This record gives sequence, C-alpha cells and structure tokens, in this order.
Amino acid sequence: MVGEDSPLVDIFRTKSVEQSIRDTEAPEHRLRKRLTATDLTVFGIGVIVGTGIFVLTGQVAKELAGPAVAISFVVAAVVCGLAALCYAEFASTIPVAGSAYTFSFATLGEFPAWVIGWDLVLELALAAAVVSVGWSGYFASLLSSLGIDLPAALAGDDPVFNLPAVLIVLILTVVLLVGIKISSRVNLILVITKVTVVLLVIVAGLFFVKGANYTPFVPEAVATARVEGLKAPLIQVLFGITPVAFGIVGIFSAAAIVFFAFIGFDIVATAAEETVAPQRDVPRGILGSLAICTALYVAVSLVVVGMQRYSELSTTAPLSDAFIAAGQAWLATIISVGAIAGLTTVVLVLLLGQTRVLFAMSRDGLLPRSLSKVHPTFGTPARLTVAVGLVTMALAGFVSFGELAELVNIGTLFAFVVVSIGVVVLRRTRPDLPRAFRVPLVPVLPIVSVLACLYLMLNLPVQTWLRFLAWMAVGVLVYFAFGYRHSRMRQQDTLEKVP
Ligand code: ALA
Repeated sequence: MVGEDSPLVDIFRTKSVEQSIRDTEAPEHRLRKRLTATDLTVFGIGVIVGTGIFVLTGQVAKELAGPAVAISFVVAAVVCGLAALCYAEFASTIPVAGSAYTFSFATLGEFPAWVIGWDLVLELALAAAVVSVGWSGYFASLLSSLGIDLPAALAGDDPVFNLPAVLIVLILTVVLLVGIKISSRVNLILVITKVTVVLLVIVAGLFFVKGANYTPFVPEAVATARVEGLKAPLIQVLFGITPVAFGIVGIFSAAAIVFFAFIGFDIVATAAEETVAPQRDVPRGILGSLAICTALYVAVSLVVVGMQRYSELSTTAPLSDAFIAAGQAWLATIISVGAIAGLTTVVLVLLLGQTRVLFAMSRDGLLPRSLSKVHPTFGTPARLTVAVGLVTMALAGFVSFGELAELVNIGTLFAFVVVSIGVVVLRRTRPDLPRAFRVPLVPVLPIVSVLACLYLMLNLPVQTWLRFLAWMAVGVLVYFAFGYRHSRMRQQDTLEKVP
C-alpha cells in the first residue's frame, strides 16, 4: 500500500483552482490585465498563420496529398477544433498563465504538470527557433531579389551561424520585455499585413486558376521509398502498413504534417491572466482565431493547387513561386514581404507563450522562483523573457532544424491529449466550479479528441518519437533533481506540519 506521505502520492497532489487563482494576486508576481477578446484573436492569428501555410502547403501537396491538401487542412482543423473546445473550457474555469501546465496541475497533479510544462518547451521555444530560421530564409530571398546577397555562412540553406534568425529573436525579445500592450500593437500591425497578403493570394490567385489542375483531385496512392527505417511513421512500424503517398492514406499523413499550421491557438490560453474578462473572452479568442485560420488555409490551398500543377509546386516558397510561374513576379515580392511579417508574429507570440508557461512553473517553485519576478516598470517577467530569448537565439543561430518541426507537432499533440483528459477529470473532481464555457457531450467529445490526437501522433516518424521520449526523460530527471525539492506546494505543506 502507498501511504499518504509516500513520495508516489506526493507527486500527484493537485493544486486547487482557488490556490492557482490566489497565486496570481501576489503583488510581486502579478501580471497586468489589459487584453480583450479582439487582442486575443489577433494574438491567435498572429501565431497560427505562419510556416504552415507559407511553406508546408506546397511540400505536402507535392509529396503526399496532391490537390486534396485542402482536405488535409480540414482534417487537422477538426483535430485542433476538438482540442480547442477543451482548452476553452479550461481557460474559462482557470484563467491563470501557464495554459496546459496550469490545467494539468489542477487536475492530474504536480508531476504530470511538470511533464507537460517541460513538453511545452518543444512546442514553444523550439517552434520559435524553427520559425525564425524559416523567417531568415524568406528574408534572405527577399534581399536577394533586391540584389543583396548575404554570405552563405550567415544565411541560406545551411549557414554556420544564422544571423537574421538570431537578430529577429533579439528584436522580438526586446519588444516583449518592454511590455505586453506594446507587443500586442506591434503584433496587430504585422497581423494585418499578413492577413492582407493571404487574402491577396486568394483573390489575385483566382485569376490564374486552371480547372485541369484539380484533376485528379485525390491522386492515386503510390508506394514510396521515402519513408524507410527511422523515418517511417510509427503507425506503419506498429501495424506493418506499407507506406504510400497520395490516395486517402496520403491525405491523413499530410494532415499530421499540416497540423503544424494550426499550432498556436492554444497559446491564447496562456494569456488568460492578462485578460480583462477571461471567462468570456478566452474561449472567443481561441475558437475565433481557429475558425478564421481554417477558412484562410482551405481557400489558399485550393487556389495554389489550382494555379500550378501539384507536382510542380515549390517546396520552399510555394505561394510566391506560384505567382512567379504565372508571370507575376511583383506579386511574388509582395507575398514574400507578407510571409516575413507573418513569420515575425509567429515567433513573437511563441516567445510570449514560452515565457508565460515558465513563469507559472517558476511561481510554483518547480523552477527557481527568482525567475518569475515581474519588472517594476515594464510589468513583464523580465528575467524569464531574457532567458527564453537567449536560449532561442542559441538554437536559431547554430542548430539546423529540418525535421524538428515534427518534434514540435508531437510535443503539441501530447499536450492536447493531456488537456482533453484533464477536462473529464476536472468535471468529476470539481463539478462545483463555475464554467463560463462547457465542452458539449462530455466525456464523448474529449475522448474523441484524445483518439484523434493519438492518431496524428502515430503518423509521425519513429525518430520523432525517439527524440520526444529522450527529451521527456531529461525532464523527469530535472524534476527530481530540482522541482521536487523546491516545489512551493510541498514546502508549504512541510511548514504546516511543523507544530
Ligand atoms: N502555426 C505556426 C506556423 O504555421 C506555428 O508557423
């Protein structure tokens, strides 16, 4: 039998929702409440529309789905929509910085919460670095279209030190340091530019669509040697399925990759604590930004595969290259500028989300508490913002990513699984809590959400699973070396037990 004081029980102790909310009120750890539903929707679109639509559309249409890539976007959107409902219920019940981390602490306990917090680094800091490298690629190609070529060692396909990627992270770190309201203004301008360019692609592209490019809409399935060994999707290894591209199977494999394009709606929940009326506005921000992005993605992908035969699409800059192929180089340049603006906001909000999750973890003592001190003038967690910026700069400058976007996907899907389970758990353990937003059909809908996320995870390569498990193993070690001993909840308990 496991006794009450056993460490095993101990690490699954939950933090009450009331305690989570009380912690946000301690003056030295209090964030300013300024954001509205519109700010949150803009933040959402800011982080969602990025590399996924500007780069991955061409890649998956060409290699996996053909013109049916639009259906892959719908499949990924449905998976995200199910998880989004769960995030919305949580955020309306526990409006505290930290998102999935905070939700897990309230439902599953300290150790699972740590695991999720650690996992979110894969989604946030790693994705910020991946997208800043993508930003650098577009930036270098725009400069080169203006006749300025950056040295290959500092930018391009395989640089020694990716200078533009590091500089963009540096600038955005300063923006975040100075204050959230300024950040959201910068974000607004960039988001407007990005959405305008996406709409331009849709409207201008319609003039160059050729009906013949849509046939066949779902190309016939073909066996491919591309996915072999550790690169094979786990589902194939587990069930002995022969890997094929295109056909119905291809649509689903493509969905596991374009899932990346939707990552970010969950980050809206990390800003709950800085929202004036979080119970009402956070669900609106999450579901609103997801719906808008889904409509944009389906429209853009349908237009792009209509402009150019799927087999001829570019895998690095499909949107602008489709216009070059149509003889509209000037439109292609405008689209590159939009892509740069688009990717900037993605990096900005990913950095913001990462800071806020670590903020919550540090406030709980699972990371050094001094990290979560709020700056007296700026009202932002300055030390953490700088620390996250430095780590992301190091990653962006020196590491070549390639397949690491898939690692971002698996990390995010894992968090979605835990949040979906958490909704069911919290309904049972705390039915009394006021829930401004409720997921319909509990527990059926959260269970479908879990299964859908697991299905997409299984479509990711074996090597992605191995990297994911290795990262999580390191996290467990760090927890027992630091967080377990310094946990604020455990220390308070010890004090209460002293007579
Ligand atoms: N959804 C973000 C993107 O597409 C991460 O870049």
